[in-house]
Amino acid sequence: MLGRFEGVDIMASTRHWSRTLLFAVLSTATASELQIPLVAQKPLEAVNTLIKPLVNTEDLQASIKIENLVERAKSLYSYAELSEPEYGHPTRVIGSEGMYQRYKFKLIQTARLTHFIGHTATLEYIYSAIEKLDGYYTLSKQPFPAVMGNVYESRLVIGHEVPKSAFPMSLTPPTTNKQPVHGDLILVANEGCDASDYPSNVTGNIAFILRGKCSFGAKSQLAGKAGAVAAIVYNYASGPLSGTLESPTPDHVATFGLSGEDAGPILEKLKKGDVIDSIAYIDSEVKQIETTNIIAQTVGGDPDNCVMLGGHSDSVAEGPGINDDGSGSLTLLEVATQLTKFSVNNCVRFAWWAGEEEGLLGSDYYVEVLPKEENLKIRLFMDYDMMGSPNFAYQVYNATNAANPEGSEQLRNLYVDWYNEQGLNHTFIPFDGRSDYDAFIRHGIPGGGIATGAEGVKTKEEEVMFGGKAGEWYDPCYHQLCDDVGNVNSTAWLVNTKLVAHSVATFAASFKGFPERSNATVFEAREQSAKYHGHRLVL
Ligand SMILES: *[C@@H]1O[C@H](CO)[C@@H](O)[C@H](O)[C@H]1NC(C)=O
Ligand SMILES: *[C@@H]1O[C@H](CO)[C@@H](O)[C@H](O)[C@H]1NC(C)=O
Ligand SMILES: *[C@@H]1O[C@H](CO)[C@@H](O)[C@H](O)[C@H]1NC(C)=O
Ligand SMILES: *[C@@H]1O[C@H](CO)[C@@H](O)[C@H](O)[C@H]1NC(C)=O
Ligand SMILES: *[C@@H]1O[C@H](CO)[C@@H](O)[C@H](O)[C@H]1NC(C)=O
Ligand SMILES: [Zn+2]
Repeated sequence: MLGRFEGVDIMASTRHWSRTLLFAVLSTATASELQIPLVAQKPLEAVNTLIKPLVNTEDLQASIKIENLVERAKSLYSYAELSEPEYGHPTRVIGSEGMYQRYKFKLIQTARLTHFIGHTATLEYIYSAIEKLDGYYTLSKQPFPAVMGNVYESRLVIGHEVPKSAFPMSLTPPTTNKQPVHGDLILVANEGCDASDYPSNVTGNIAFILRGKCSFGAKSQLAGKAGAVAAIVYNYASGPLSGTLESPTPDHVATFGLSGEDAGPILEKLKKGDVIDSIAYIDSEVKQIETTNIIAQTVGGDPDNCVMLGGHSDSVAEGPGINDDGSGSLTLLEVATQLTKFSVNNCVRFAWWAGEEEGLLGSDYYVEVLPKEENLKIRLFMDYDMMGSPNFAYQVYNATNAANPEGSEQLRNLYVDWYNEQGLNHTFIPFDGRSDYDAFIRHGIPGGGIATGAEGVKTKEEEVMFGGKAGEWYDPCYHQLCDDVGNVNSTAWLVNTKLVAHSVATFAASFKGFPERSNATVFEAREQSAKYHGHRLVL
Protein backbone atom coordinates (compact mmCIF):
# COMPACT_ATOMS: atom_id res chain seq x y z
CA MET A 1 0.00 0.00 0.00
CA LEU A 2 2.59 2.54 1.05
CA GLY A 3 5.73 1.70 -0.85
CA ARG A 4 8.24 2.84 1.70
CA PHE A 5 6.81 0.59 4.39
CA GLU A 6 7.46 -2.51 2.37
CA GLY A 7 9.93 -5.20 3.25
CA VAL A 8 10.03 -4.47 6.94
CA ASP A 9 10.00 -7.65 8.95
CA ILE A 10 7.54 -7.52 11.79
CA MET A 11 9.46 -10.08 13.78
CA ALA A 12 12.68 -8.12 13.28
CA SER A 13 14.82 -9.02 16.21
CA THR A 14 15.62 -6.22 18.58
CA ARG A 15 19.20 -5.66 19.55
CA HIS A 16 20.50 -4.61 22.93
CA TRP A 17 21.43 -1.39 21.27
CA SER A 18 21.60 1.16 24.05
CA ARG A 19 22.93 -1.37 26.54
CA THR A 20 25.77 -2.30 24.26
CA LEU A 21 26.50 1.36 23.71
CA LEU A 22 26.66 2.11 27.36
CA PHE A 23 29.02 -0.76 27.86
CA ALA A 24 31.21 0.44 25.02
CA VAL A 25 31.62 3.82 26.65
CA LEU A 26 32.59 2.35 29.97
CA SER A 27 35.13 -0.12 28.65
CA THR A 28 36.54 1.16 25.38
CA ALA A 29 39.73 -0.83 25.89
CA THR A 30 38.00 -4.13 25.29
CA ALA A 31 35.51 -2.96 22.70
CA SER A 32 37.12 -4.72 19.78
CA GLU A 33 37.21 -8.08 21.54
CA LEU A 34 33.53 -7.70 22.38
CA GLN A 35 32.53 -7.26 18.76
CA ILE A 36 30.58 -4.10 19.45
CA PRO A 37 28.34 -3.42 16.48
CA LEU A 38 29.22 -0.61 14.10
CA VAL A 39 26.73 1.71 15.61
CA ALA A 40 28.79 1.98 18.80
CA GLN A 41 31.45 3.89 16.91
CA LYS A 42 29.41 7.09 16.89
CA PRO A 43 31.22 10.17 18.25
CA LEU A 44 31.26 10.34 22.02
CA GLU A 45 28.96 13.40 22.17
CA ALA A 46 26.25 11.49 20.36
CA VAL A 47 26.74 8.53 22.64
CA ASN A 48 26.50 10.68 25.75
CA THR A 49 23.10 11.98 24.74
CA LEU A 50 21.95 8.38 24.75
CA ILE A 51 22.72 7.91 28.42
CA LYS A 52 19.35 8.90 29.70
CA PRO A 53 17.79 8.70 33.13
CA LEU A 54 15.77 5.58 33.83
CA VAL A 55 12.09 6.21 33.19
CA ASN A 56 10.08 7.15 36.27
CA THR A 57 6.37 7.69 36.47
CA GLU A 58 6.36 11.25 37.87
CA ASP A 59 8.56 12.66 35.12
CA LEU A 60 6.87 10.78 32.31
CA GLN A 61 3.44 11.92 33.53
CA ALA A 62 4.67 15.50 33.88
CA SER A 63 5.80 15.46 30.23
CA ILE A 64 2.22 14.94 29.01
CA LYS A 65 0.66 18.18 27.79
CA ILE A 66 -2.90 18.55 26.55
CA GLU A 67 -1.81 21.07 23.87
CA ASN A 68 0.27 18.39 22.16
CA LEU A 69 -2.65 15.98 22.16
CA VAL A 70 -5.11 18.53 20.79
CA GLU A 71 -2.66 19.56 18.06
CA ARG A 72 -2.40 15.91 17.02
CA ALA A 73 -6.20 15.55 17.05
CA LYS A 74 -6.48 18.46 14.60
CA SER A 75 -3.99 16.78 12.26
CA LEU A 76 -5.92 13.55 12.46
CA TYR A 77 -9.16 15.31 11.54
CA SER A 78 -7.51 16.86 8.50
CA TYR A 79 -6.51 13.36 7.36
CA ALA A 80 -10.08 12.17 7.81
CA GLU A 81 -11.15 14.98 5.49
CA LEU A 82 -9.08 13.43 2.70
CA SER A 83 -11.78 10.78 2.43
CA GLU A 84 -14.49 13.30 1.58
CA PRO A 85 -14.38 12.79 -2.19
CA GLU A 86 -15.13 9.09 -1.77
CA TYR A 87 -17.37 9.01 1.29
CA GLY A 88 -18.94 12.44 1.20
CA HIS A 89 -17.69 13.11 4.74
CA PRO A 90 -14.54 12.74 6.84
CA THR A 91 -13.62 9.18 7.85
CA ARG A 92 -10.54 7.09 8.62
CA VAL A 93 -12.10 3.73 7.74
CA ILE A 94 -9.74 1.07 6.37
CA GLY A 95 -9.56 0.17 2.72
CA SER A 96 -10.43 2.18 -0.34
CA GLU A 97 -7.45 1.02 -2.32
CA GLY A 98 -9.50 1.91 -5.39
CA MET A 99 -9.71 5.52 -4.31
CA TYR A 100 -6.03 5.51 -3.53
CA GLN A 101 -5.34 4.46 -7.11
CA ARG A 102 -7.69 7.06 -8.52
CA TYR A 103 -6.11 9.78 -6.43
CA LYS A 104 -2.69 8.67 -7.46
CA PHE A 105 -3.70 8.90 -11.06
CA LYS A 106 -5.17 12.37 -10.78
CA LEU A 107 -3.12 14.05 -8.13
CA ILE A 108 0.23 12.38 -8.35
CA GLN A 109 2.05 15.69 -8.67
CA THR A 110 0.43 17.48 -5.76
CA ALA A 111 1.33 17.65 -2.08
CA ARG A 112 2.72 14.54 -0.46
CA LEU A 113 -0.40 13.45 1.38
CA THR A 114 -3.06 14.22 -1.17
CA HIS A 115 -2.96 10.79 -2.69
CA PHE A 116 -3.63 9.14 0.63
CA ILE A 117 -7.05 9.00 2.13
CA GLY A 118 -8.10 9.07 5.78
CA HIS A 119 -6.75 5.80 7.07
CA THR A 120 -3.60 5.57 4.98
CA ALA A 121 -2.79 9.17 5.90
CA THR A 122 -3.24 8.23 9.56
CA LEU A 123 -0.78 5.36 9.13
CA GLU A 124 1.68 7.63 7.36
CA TYR A 125 1.37 10.17 10.18
CA ILE A 126 2.02 7.61 12.94
CA TYR A 127 4.84 5.94 11.06
CA SER A 128 6.70 9.12 10.23
CA ALA A 129 6.22 10.53 13.74
CA ILE A 130 7.93 7.47 15.24
CA GLU A 131 10.54 7.45 12.50
CA LYS A 132 11.61 10.95 13.56
CA LEU A 133 12.46 9.77 17.07
CA ASP A 134 16.08 9.17 16.23
CA GLY A 135 16.29 5.43 16.32
CA TYR A 136 14.76 5.06 19.76
CA TYR A 137 12.31 2.53 18.30
CA THR A 138 12.49 -0.38 15.90
CA LEU A 139 9.57 0.38 13.64
CA SER A 140 7.73 -2.15 11.56
CA LYS A 141 4.69 -2.57 9.46
CA GLN A 142 2.57 -5.69 9.44
CA PRO A 143 0.33 -5.87 6.40
CA PHE A 144 -2.57 -8.29 6.51
CA PRO A 145 -5.63 -9.07 4.41
CA ALA A 146 -8.91 -7.70 5.69
CA VAL A 147 -12.49 -8.12 4.66
CA MET A 148 -14.71 -5.11 4.16
CA GLY A 149 -18.43 -5.14 3.65
CA ASN A 150 -20.87 -2.58 2.33
CA VAL A 151 -24.63 -2.94 2.26
CA TYR A 152 -26.03 -0.60 -0.38
CA GLU A 153 -29.71 -1.49 -0.16
CA SER A 154 -31.92 -4.01 1.61
CA ARG A 155 -35.56 -4.93 2.15
CA LEU A 156 -37.41 -7.64 4.02
CA VAL A 157 -41.12 -8.34 3.59
CA ILE A 158 -42.68 -10.98 5.86
CA GLY A 159 -46.22 -11.84 4.78
CA HIS A 160 -47.60 -8.37 4.15
CA GLU A 161 -45.48 -6.67 6.76
CA VAL A 162 -42.23 -4.78 6.43
CA PRO A 163 -40.73 -5.24 9.91
CA LYS A 164 -39.07 -2.03 11.04
CA SER A 165 -36.34 -3.79 12.99
CA ALA A 166 -35.06 -5.90 10.07
CA PHE A 167 -31.37 -5.11 9.74
CA PRO A 168 -28.86 -6.76 7.39
CA MET A 169 -25.95 -8.28 9.29
CA SER A 170 -22.58 -6.77 8.63
CA LEU A 171 -20.49 -8.74 6.08
CA THR A 172 -23.61 -10.40 4.71
CA PRO A 173 -23.44 -11.54 1.09
CA PRO A 174 -26.10 -10.19 -1.28
CA THR A 175 -29.17 -12.19 -2.25
CA THR A 176 -28.73 -14.15 -5.51
CA ASN A 177 -27.82 -11.80 -8.37
CA LYS A 178 -28.45 -8.88 -6.00
CA GLN A 179 -32.16 -9.41 -6.73
CA PRO A 180 -35.11 -10.02 -4.38
CA VAL A 181 -35.67 -13.69 -3.51
CA HIS A 182 -39.04 -15.23 -2.58
CA GLY A 183 -39.78 -18.10 -0.29
CA ASP A 184 -41.79 -19.38 2.65
CA LEU A 185 -40.51 -18.67 6.10
CA ILE A 186 -39.28 -21.96 7.58
CA LEU A 187 -38.90 -22.27 11.33
CA VAL A 188 -35.55 -23.83 12.22
CA ALA A 189 -35.43 -26.13 15.29
CA ASN A 190 -33.54 -25.18 18.49
CA GLU A 191 -30.95 -22.45 17.89
CA GLY A 192 -30.04 -23.67 14.41
CA CYS A 193 -26.51 -24.58 15.44
CA ASP A 194 -26.70 -28.11 14.05
CA ALA A 195 -27.38 -29.25 10.48
CA SER A 196 -30.18 -31.49 11.77
CA ASP A 197 -32.06 -28.42 13.02
CA TYR A 198 -32.82 -27.48 9.43
CA PRO A 199 -35.92 -29.22 7.97
CA SER A 200 -35.59 -30.34 4.36
CA ASN A 201 -38.17 -27.82 3.17
CA VAL A 202 -35.72 -25.00 4.03
CA THR A 203 -34.30 -25.59 0.54
CA GLY A 204 -35.31 -22.70 -1.72
CA ASN A 205 -36.96 -20.93 1.24
CA ILE A 206 -36.05 -18.49 4.00
CA ALA A 207 -34.71 -19.85 7.29
CA PHE A 208 -36.09 -18.32 10.51
CA ILE A 209 -33.54 -18.92 13.29
CA LEU A 210 -33.45 -18.16 17.01
CA ARG A 211 -30.46 -16.21 18.32
CA GLY A 212 -28.08 -17.94 20.75
CA LYS A 213 -25.66 -20.80 21.43
CA CYS A 214 -23.58 -20.35 18.25
CA SER A 215 -22.50 -17.35 16.20
CA PHE A 216 -24.61 -15.57 13.59
CA GLY A 217 -21.98 -16.62 11.05
CA ALA A 218 -22.43 -20.31 11.93
CA LYS A 219 -26.23 -20.03 11.52
CA SER A 220 -25.96 -18.28 8.17
CA GLN A 221 -23.55 -20.95 6.97
CA LEU A 222 -25.76 -23.85 8.05
CA ALA A 223 -28.79 -22.18 6.45
CA GLY A 224 -26.82 -21.79 3.23
CA LYS A 225 -25.68 -25.42 3.31
CA ALA A 226 -29.30 -26.50 3.80
CA GLY A 227 -30.21 -24.62 0.63
CA ALA A 228 -31.96 -21.57 2.12
CA VAL A 229 -32.05 -18.50 -0.12
CA ALA A 230 -31.85 -16.15 2.86
CA ALA A 231 -31.79 -16.31 6.66
CA ILE A 232 -33.32 -14.29 9.46
CA VAL A 233 -31.91 -14.48 12.99
CA TYR A 234 -34.42 -13.24 15.54
CA ASN A 235 -33.67 -11.95 19.01
CA TYR A 236 -34.59 -14.03 22.06
CA ALA A 237 -34.96 -10.80 24.01
CA SER A 238 -36.58 -7.51 23.21
CA GLY A 239 -34.64 -5.08 21.06
CA PRO A 240 -33.20 -5.16 17.56
CA LEU A 241 -30.42 -7.48 16.50
CA SER A 242 -27.54 -5.83 14.72
CA GLY A 243 -24.60 -8.16 14.37
CA THR A 244 -21.91 -9.41 12.07
CA LEU A 245 -21.31 -12.69 10.22
CA GLU A 246 -17.55 -12.15 10.75
CA SER A 247 -15.32 -14.09 8.32
CA PRO A 248 -17.18 -14.67 5.07
CA THR A 249 -17.54 -18.25 3.80
CA PRO A 250 -18.98 -19.47 0.49
CA ASP A 251 -21.93 -21.01 2.36
CA HIS A 252 -23.13 -17.79 3.95
CA VAL A 253 -26.50 -16.57 2.69
CA ALA A 254 -28.00 -13.08 2.84
CA THR A 255 -28.82 -12.66 6.53
CA PHE A 256 -31.00 -10.25 8.49
CA GLY A 257 -31.36 -9.65 12.21
CA LEU A 258 -34.83 -9.12 13.66
CA SER A 259 -36.05 -7.81 17.03
CA GLY A 260 -37.78 -10.01 19.57
CA GLU A 261 -40.88 -7.78 19.31
CA ASP A 262 -41.17 -8.24 15.54
CA ALA A 263 -40.43 -11.96 15.79
CA GLY A 264 -43.14 -12.75 18.39
CA PRO A 265 -46.30 -12.70 16.21
CA ILE A 266 -44.47 -14.39 13.32
CA LEU A 267 -43.39 -17.23 15.57
CA GLU A 268 -46.93 -17.79 16.79
CA LYS A 269 -48.20 -18.12 13.24
CA LEU A 270 -45.39 -20.48 12.23
CA LYS A 271 -46.01 -22.69 15.25
CA LYS A 272 -49.70 -22.93 14.25
CA GLY A 273 -48.56 -24.15 10.81
CA ASP A 274 -49.39 -20.97 8.89
CA VAL A 275 -47.49 -20.48 5.67
CA ILE A 276 -45.80 -17.07 5.49
CA ASP A 277 -44.63 -16.03 2.07
CA SER A 278 -41.67 -13.64 2.27
CA ILE A 279 -39.32 -11.55 0.17
CA ALA A 280 -35.70 -10.81 1.06
CA TYR A 281 -33.41 -8.45 -0.79
CA ILE A 282 -29.85 -7.38 0.00
CA ASP A 283 -27.54 -5.56 -2.39
CA SER A 284 -24.15 -5.75 -0.75
CA GLU A 285 -20.52 -6.28 -1.46
CA VAL A 286 -17.89 -8.13 0.56
CA LYS A 287 -14.37 -7.55 -0.63
CA GLN A 288 -10.86 -8.34 0.44
CA ILE A 289 -8.38 -5.52 0.86
CA GLU A 290 -4.99 -5.10 2.48
CA THR A 291 -4.30 -2.91 5.47
CA THR A 292 -1.57 -2.76 8.07
CA ASN A 293 -0.68 -2.69 11.74
CA ILE A 294 2.20 -0.48 12.87
CA ILE A 295 4.46 -1.75 15.65
CA ALA A 296 7.17 0.25 17.41
CA GLN A 297 9.44 -1.34 19.97
CA THR A 298 12.09 0.34 22.08
CA VAL A 299 15.59 -0.54 20.97
CA GLY A 300 16.61 -0.44 24.63
CA GLY A 301 15.27 -2.63 27.38
CA ASP A 302 15.18 -6.39 27.78
CA PRO A 303 13.60 -7.69 24.55
CA ASP A 304 12.57 -10.91 26.28
CA ASN A 305 10.33 -9.02 28.69
CA CYS A 306 8.04 -6.55 26.96
CA VAL A 307 5.16 -4.45 28.09
CA MET A 308 2.85 -4.00 25.14
CA LEU A 309 0.10 -1.46 24.58
CA GLY A 310 -2.21 -0.72 21.69
CA GLY A 311 -4.89 1.50 20.23
CA HIS A 312 -6.59 1.30 16.83
CA SER A 313 -5.66 3.50 13.90
CA ASP A 314 -8.92 3.10 11.98
CA SER A 315 -12.39 4.58 12.42
CA VAL A 316 -15.82 3.43 11.26
CA ALA A 317 -16.99 4.56 7.82
CA GLU A 318 -19.59 6.89 9.36
CA GLY A 319 -17.20 9.46 10.77
CA PRO A 320 -13.68 10.71 11.52
CA GLY A 321 -13.28 8.74 14.78
CA ILE A 322 -11.39 11.34 16.77
CA ASN A 323 -12.44 9.96 20.15
CA ASP A 324 -12.80 6.39 18.78
CA ASP A 325 -9.95 5.75 18.62
CA GLY A 326 -8.04 8.85 17.59
CA SER A 327 -7.73 9.59 21.29
CA GLY A 328 -6.10 6.25 22.13
CA SER A 329 -3.86 6.24 19.05
CA LEU A 330 -2.62 9.74 19.78
CA THR A 331 -2.17 9.01 23.47
CA LEU A 332 0.16 6.20 22.44
CA LEU A 333 2.00 8.44 20.00
CA GLU A 334 2.50 11.16 22.60
CA VAL A 335 3.64 8.71 25.30
CA ALA A 336 5.99 7.05 22.79
CA THR A 337 7.42 10.47 21.96
CA GLN A 338 7.93 11.54 25.58
CA LEU A 339 9.39 8.16 26.53
CA THR A 340 12.43 8.89 24.34
CA LYS A 341 13.74 11.25 27.05
CA PHE A 342 14.36 8.21 29.22
CA SER A 343 15.98 4.82 29.21
CA VAL A 344 14.04 1.65 29.96
CA ASN A 345 14.88 -1.65 31.65
CA ASN A 346 12.19 -3.60 29.87
CA CYS A 347 11.19 -3.38 26.26
CA VAL A 348 8.11 -1.32 25.48
CA ARG A 349 6.13 -2.23 22.38
CA PHE A 350 3.46 0.06 20.96
CA ALA A 351 0.87 -1.15 18.46
CA TRP A 352 -1.52 0.75 16.24
CA TRP A 353 -4.04 -1.82 15.05
CA ALA A 354 -5.93 -1.58 11.77
CA GLY A 355 -9.38 -3.01 11.16
CA GLU A 356 -10.52 -2.91 14.79
CA GLU A 357 -13.87 -1.58 13.69
CA GLU A 358 -14.33 -4.42 11.20
CA GLY A 359 -13.96 -7.00 13.98
CA LEU A 360 -10.58 -6.64 15.73
CA LEU A 361 -8.84 -7.77 12.54
CA GLY A 362 -5.39 -6.31 13.15
CA SER A 363 -4.92 -7.46 16.74
CA ASP A 364 -6.36 -10.90 15.93
CA TYR A 365 -3.92 -11.29 13.08
CA TYR A 366 -0.97 -10.10 15.13
CA VAL A 367 -1.54 -12.55 17.97
CA GLU A 368 -2.53 -15.37 15.64
CA VAL A 369 0.77 -15.34 13.73
CA LEU A 370 2.95 -14.70 16.79
CA PRO A 371 5.24 -17.72 17.36
CA LYS A 372 5.03 -19.24 20.82
CA GLU A 373 8.46 -17.98 21.90
CA GLU A 374 7.44 -14.43 20.88
CA ASN A 375 4.13 -14.76 22.69
CA LEU A 376 6.03 -15.59 25.87
CA LYS A 377 8.06 -12.37 25.65
CA ILE A 378 4.93 -10.25 26.05
CA ARG A 379 4.41 -9.91 29.78
CA LEU A 380 1.11 -8.07 29.40
CA PHE A 381 -1.04 -6.15 26.93
CA MET A 382 -2.78 -2.85 27.75
CA ASP A 383 -5.68 -1.68 25.59
CA TYR A 384 -6.40 2.03 25.12
CA ASP A 385 -9.57 2.63 23.14
CA MET A 386 -11.61 5.86 23.63
CA MET A 387 -9.73 7.96 26.17
CA GLY A 388 -11.80 11.16 26.21
CA SER A 389 -15.53 10.59 25.74
CA PRO A 390 -17.41 13.89 26.18
CA ASN A 391 -19.80 12.49 28.81
CA PHE A 392 -17.06 10.31 30.28
CA ALA A 393 -16.73 7.91 33.17
CA TYR A 394 -13.31 6.62 34.22
CA GLN A 395 -13.84 2.99 33.34
CA VAL A 396 -11.47 0.17 34.21
CA TYR A 397 -11.91 -3.22 32.56
CA ASN A 398 -12.83 -5.69 35.25
CA ALA A 399 -10.14 -8.11 34.17
CA THR A 400 -9.79 -10.57 37.04
CA ASN A 401 -7.30 -13.40 37.34
CA ALA A 402 -10.19 -15.78 37.89
CA ALA A 403 -11.41 -15.30 34.33
CA ASN A 404 -8.23 -14.14 32.58
CA PRO A 405 -4.51 -14.92 32.42
CA GLU A 406 -2.68 -14.36 35.70
CA GLY A 407 -1.50 -10.75 35.89
CA SER A 408 -4.64 -9.18 34.42
CA GLU A 409 -5.91 -8.37 37.90
CA GLN A 410 -2.60 -6.80 38.95
CA LEU A 411 -2.92 -4.50 35.93
CA ARG A 412 -6.54 -3.73 36.82
CA ASN A 413 -5.41 -2.79 40.33
CA LEU A 414 -2.67 -0.52 39.00
CA TYR A 415 -5.35 1.59 37.30
CA VAL A 416 -7.59 1.55 40.37
CA ASP A 417 -4.73 2.59 42.68
CA TRP A 418 -3.79 5.46 40.41
CA TYR A 419 -7.32 6.87 40.18
CA ASN A 420 -7.58 6.56 43.96
CA GLU A 421 -4.29 8.40 44.45
CA GLN A 422 -5.52 11.23 42.22
CA GLY A 423 -8.75 11.44 44.22
CA LEU A 424 -10.74 10.39 41.14
CA ASN A 425 -13.62 7.95 40.96
CA HIS A 426 -13.72 4.95 38.65
CA THR A 427 -16.14 2.18 37.65
CA PHE A 428 -15.52 -1.39 36.54
CA ILE A 429 -16.82 -2.40 33.14
CA PRO A 430 -17.09 -5.87 31.60
CA PHE A 431 -14.02 -7.31 29.92
CA ASP A 432 -16.07 -8.99 27.22
CA GLY A 433 -14.26 -8.87 23.91
CA ARG A 434 -15.22 -5.44 22.66
CA SER A 435 -11.71 -4.25 21.88
CA ASP A 436 -8.24 -5.38 20.82
CA TYR A 437 -7.31 -7.10 24.10
CA ASP A 438 -9.46 -10.06 23.09
CA ALA A 439 -6.89 -12.06 21.11
CA PHE A 440 -4.21 -11.53 23.78
CA ILE A 441 -6.39 -12.88 26.54
CA ARG A 442 -7.43 -15.87 24.45
CA HIS A 443 -3.75 -16.66 23.82
CA GLY A 444 -2.69 -16.58 27.44
CA ILE A 445 -1.32 -13.02 27.66
CA PRO A 446 -2.50 -11.01 30.68
CA GLY A 447 -4.42 -7.91 29.66
CA GLY A 448 -6.61 -5.05 30.66
CA GLY A 449 -7.13 -1.39 30.02
CA ILE A 450 -9.18 1.70 30.58
CA ALA A 451 -11.88 3.48 28.58
CA THR A 452 -14.31 6.36 28.99
CA GLY A 453 -17.49 4.92 27.52
CA ALA A 454 -19.21 4.44 24.16
CA GLU A 455 -22.94 4.03 23.57
CA GLY A 456 -23.75 3.12 27.19
CA VAL A 457 -26.00 5.43 29.20
CA LYS A 458 -24.56 7.36 32.14
CA THR A 459 -26.35 6.63 35.42
CA LYS A 460 -27.40 9.14 38.09
CA GLU A 461 -24.67 7.79 40.37
CA GLU A 462 -22.08 8.26 37.66
CA GLU A 463 -23.19 11.84 37.15
CA VAL A 464 -22.30 12.48 40.80
CA MET A 465 -19.00 10.59 40.40
CA PHE A 466 -17.78 12.17 37.16
CA GLY A 467 -19.97 15.15 36.28
CA GLY A 468 -21.57 15.20 32.83
CA LYS A 469 -25.16 14.19 32.15
CA ALA A 470 -27.11 11.18 33.39
CA GLY A 471 -29.45 9.54 30.88
CA GLU A 472 -27.19 10.29 27.92
CA TRP A 473 -24.55 8.21 26.16
CA TYR A 474 -20.98 8.50 27.41
CA ASP A 475 -20.13 9.35 23.83
CA PRO A 476 -23.21 10.77 22.10
CA CYS A 477 -21.21 10.86 18.83
CA TYR A 478 -20.10 7.21 19.05
CA HIS A 479 -19.59 5.86 15.51
CA GLN A 480 -21.10 9.00 14.00
CA LEU A 481 -20.04 11.93 11.88
CA CYS A 482 -19.83 14.23 14.90
CA ASP A 483 -16.92 12.27 16.46
CA ASP A 484 -14.65 15.20 15.63
CA VAL A 485 -12.06 17.28 17.51
CA GLY A 486 -14.81 18.85 19.64
CA ASN A 487 -15.97 15.39 20.72
CA VAL A 488 -13.06 14.77 23.07
CA ASN A 489 -13.18 15.99 26.66
CA SER A 490 -9.74 17.39 27.33
CA THR A 491 -9.92 16.86 31.10
CA ALA A 492 -10.55 13.14 30.69
CA TRP A 493 -8.07 12.80 27.85
CA LEU A 494 -5.26 14.41 29.83
CA VAL A 495 -6.02 12.39 32.97
CA ASN A 496 -6.06 9.14 31.05
CA THR A 497 -2.94 9.90 29.02
CA LYS A 498 -1.12 10.47 32.30
CA LEU A 499 -2.43 7.13 33.49
CA VAL A 500 -1.20 5.48 30.29
CA ALA A 501 2.19 7.12 30.92
CA HIS A 502 2.09 5.71 34.45
CA SER A 503 1.36 2.20 33.18
CA VAL A 504 4.21 2.41 30.67
CA ALA A 505 6.69 3.90 33.14
CA THR A 506 5.85 1.31 35.78
CA PHE A 507 6.45 -1.76 33.63
CA ALA A 508 9.25 -0.23 31.55
CA ALA A 509 11.18 0.19 34.80
CA SER A 510 10.33 -3.13 36.43
CA PHE A 511 8.18 -6.26 36.42
CA LYS A 512 8.89 -6.84 40.07
CA GLY A 513 5.95 -8.64 41.63
CA PHE A 514 4.26 -9.12 38.28
CA PRO A 515 3.55 -12.79 37.44
CA GLU A 516 6.04 -14.49 35.12
CA ARG A 517 4.79 -15.85 31.83
CA SER A 518 5.27 -19.59 31.57
CA ASN A 519 4.67 -22.24 29.00
CA ALA A 520 1.60 -23.29 30.86
CA THR A 521 -0.10 -19.96 30.22
CA VAL A 522 0.16 -20.11 26.46
CA PHE A 523 -2.93 -21.85 25.30
CA GLU A 524 -4.37 -22.29 21.88
CA ALA A 525 -7.07 -19.79 21.07
CA ARG A 526 -9.94 -20.30 23.46
CA GLU A 527 -13.38 -20.71 21.96
CA GLN A 528 -15.23 -17.50 21.45
CA SER A 529 -17.38 -17.18 24.52
CA ALA A 530 -17.99 -13.44 24.61
CA LYS A 531 -21.07 -12.00 22.90
CA TYR A 532 -18.93 -9.37 21.27
CA HIS A 533 -15.95 -9.48 19.00
CA GLY A 534 -15.30 -5.81 18.53
CA HIS A 535 -18.26 -3.52 18.77
CA ARG A 536 -20.58 -5.83 16.91
CA LEU A 537 -22.55 -8.73 18.28
CA VAL A 538 -21.49 -12.09 16.96
CA LEU A 539 -23.66 -14.38 19.04
C1 LIG B 1 -41.53 -27.46 6.69
O1 LIG B 1 -41.28 -28.69 7.30
C2 LIG B 1 -41.57 -28.72 8.69
C3 LIG B 1 -41.07 -30.05 9.26
O2 LIG B 1 -41.32 -31.10 8.40
C4 LIG B 1 -43.08 -28.50 8.88
O3 LIG B 1 -43.38 -28.52 10.25
C5 LIG B 1 -43.42 -27.15 8.29
O4 LIG B 1 -44.80 -26.93 8.35
C6 LIG B 1 -42.99 -27.04 6.84
N1 LIG B 1 -43.19 -25.68 6.42
C7 LIG B 1 -43.72 -25.35 5.25
C8 LIG B 1 -43.93 -23.88 4.99
O5 LIG B 1 -44.01 -26.17 4.44
C1 LIG C 1 -15.61 -8.40 38.30
O1 LIG C 1 -15.50 -9.72 37.80
C2 LIG C 1 -15.65 -10.74 38.77
C3 LIG C 1 -15.53 -12.10 38.11
O2 LIG C 1 -14.33 -12.24 37.43
C4 LIG C 1 -17.01 -10.62 39.45
O3 LIG C 1 -17.08 -11.54 40.49
C5 LIG C 1 -17.20 -9.19 39.99
O4 LIG C 1 -18.52 -9.06 40.47
C6 LIG C 1 -16.97 -8.17 38.91
N1 LIG C 1 -17.06 -6.84 39.49
C7 LIG C 1 -17.80 -5.88 38.94
C8 LIG C 1 -17.87 -4.61 39.69
O5 LIG C 1 -18.41 -6.02 37.91
C1 LIG D 1 -16.61 10.76 43.63
O1 LIG D 1 -17.90 10.27 43.82
C2 LIG D 1 -18.55 10.76 44.97
C3 LIG D 1 -19.92 10.10 45.04
O2 LIG D 1 -19.75 8.70 45.10
C4 LIG D 1 -18.68 12.27 44.89
O3 LIG D 1 -19.26 12.75 46.09
C5 LIG D 1 -17.33 12.90 44.70
O4 LIG D 1 -17.46 14.29 44.49
C6 LIG D 1 -16.66 12.27 43.47
N1 LIG D 1 -15.30 12.76 43.35
C7 LIG D 1 -14.90 13.49 42.31
C8 LIG D 1 -13.47 13.90 42.32
O5 LIG D 1 -15.63 13.81 41.38
C1 LIG E 1 -14.96 17.95 30.43
O1 LIG E 1 -15.73 17.39 31.44
C2 LIG E 1 -15.74 18.13 32.63
C3 LIG E 1 -16.48 17.30 33.66
O2 LIG E 1 -17.72 16.87 33.20
C4 LIG E 1 -16.39 19.47 32.37
O3 LIG E 1 -16.36 20.24 33.54
C5 LIG E 1 -15.63 20.19 31.27
O4 LIG E 1 -16.30 21.37 30.92
C6 LIG E 1 -15.50 19.31 30.05
N1 LIG E 1 -14.59 19.94 29.12
C7 LIG E 1 -14.74 19.92 27.80
C8 LIG E 1 -13.70 20.61 27.00
O5 LIG E 1 -15.67 19.36 27.26
C1 LIG F 1 8.74 -24.08 27.01
O1 LIG F 1 8.76 -25.46 26.73
C2 LIG F 1 9.76 -25.87 25.80
C3 LIG F 1 9.62 -27.35 25.57
O2 LIG F 1 8.33 -27.81 25.84
C4 LIG F 1 11.12 -25.52 26.35
O3 LIG F 1 12.11 -25.87 25.41
C5 LIG F 1 11.20 -24.04 26.65
O4 LIG F 1 12.42 -23.72 27.25
C6 LIG F 1 10.06 -23.62 27.57
N1 LIG F 1 10.08 -22.17 27.72
C7 LIG F 1 9.85 -21.57 28.90
C8 LIG F 1 9.87 -20.08 28.86
O5 LIG F 1 9.61 -22.16 29.91
ZN1 LIG G 1 -12.70 1.78 19.19
